[in-house]
Amino acid sequence: MAGSSRLDGKRALVIGGGGAGIGRAIVRACAAAGAGVAVADVDAARATEAVDELRAAGHTAHALSGDVRFREQLEDMIVGAAERLGGLDTLVTVVGGQVAFVPAVKLHEMEDEDWDTVYDVNLRYVARAVRRVLRLFLEQGIGGNIVSIGSVTGFMAAPKQAGYGAAKAGLYSLARTVAAEYAADGIRMNVVAGGAISTAVGNTNPTGEWLPEIPAGRFGTAEEMAAATVYLASDEARYVTGQQIVLDGGVSVRGPFPE
Ligand SMILES: NC(=O)c1ccc[n+]([C@@H]2O[C@H](COP(=O)([O-])OP(=O)(O)OC[C@H]3O[C@@H](n4cnc5c(N)ncnc54)[C@H](O)[C@@H]3O)[C@@H](O)[C@H]2O)c1
Repeated sequence: MAGSSRLDGKRALVIGGGGAGIGRAIVRACAAAGAGVAVADVDAARATEAVDELRAAGHTAHALSGDVRFREQLEDMIVGAAERLGGLDTLVTVVGGQVAFVPAVKLHEMEDEDWDTVYDVNLRYVARAVRRVLRLFLEQGIGGNIVSIGSVTGFMAAPKQAGYGAAKAGLYSLARTVAAEYAADGIRMNVVAGGAISTAVGNTNPTGEWLPEIPAGRFGTAEEMAAATVYLASDEARYVTGQQIVLDGGVSVRGPFPE
């Protein structure tokens, strides 16, 4: 099988892996790097389509459907993935966003229920999944790692997306605590924080007006997010934990300096 072999023999669950953009790129990259992959998504057809594609290319893949907002369904994804793959080495959490779920409005205009929705699909489920998979990793006794897809809004201002930014900030905090508490068990957690990532039909596709603000002069790609994810999931990153890799073409470090 062609691929980088970085994840040979590893078993990965990608929650939100049926996605049209970053999620799909991640399952493709994990499989191409040698991992057996469980693809979980609320859209069962998307998960199945992703798995069919991977199997047709000769990879090991299983489809799981479920909604991360519900505790039991999340539990089923993790237990189901471990059963089908014979254990689990990597959890990737992809589900997230604000405008795909609730309107983008200024903070004082945000409804309570919308804040809760954004929190549910960006941080609450990740914290639950992390707690569950930590127990699994400890039982297996062979370490493991978690990669969460974050955003620059987690450490920059997030105008009209305050809930999103606050939740993404929480991912990085979780990763730091996992690092401190479980590094000695061989368990790691890191975040891949995207800037403006262009995906074919992604829900949060950036628009052209952002372009002049990006020093790299272009949007990032789902494949670049996936490559960072594979690196963090691989043994090459075994000393990397509690970190956030930022893929933003320089946006977050660009100062307001005149030419
Ligand atoms: N696109 C960007 O510009 C950008 C930038 C930075 C970070 N991100 C992050 O990347 C991640 C992926 O975003 P994307 O818009 O590219 O999506 P994507 O195309 O990768 O798809 C995400 C998948 O999640 C699934 N999903 C949605 N709600 C779910 C639920 N409740 N339970 C289970 N599955 C569910 C969807 O069906 C979809 O298949 C998000 O965490 C987002 O915050 C995106």
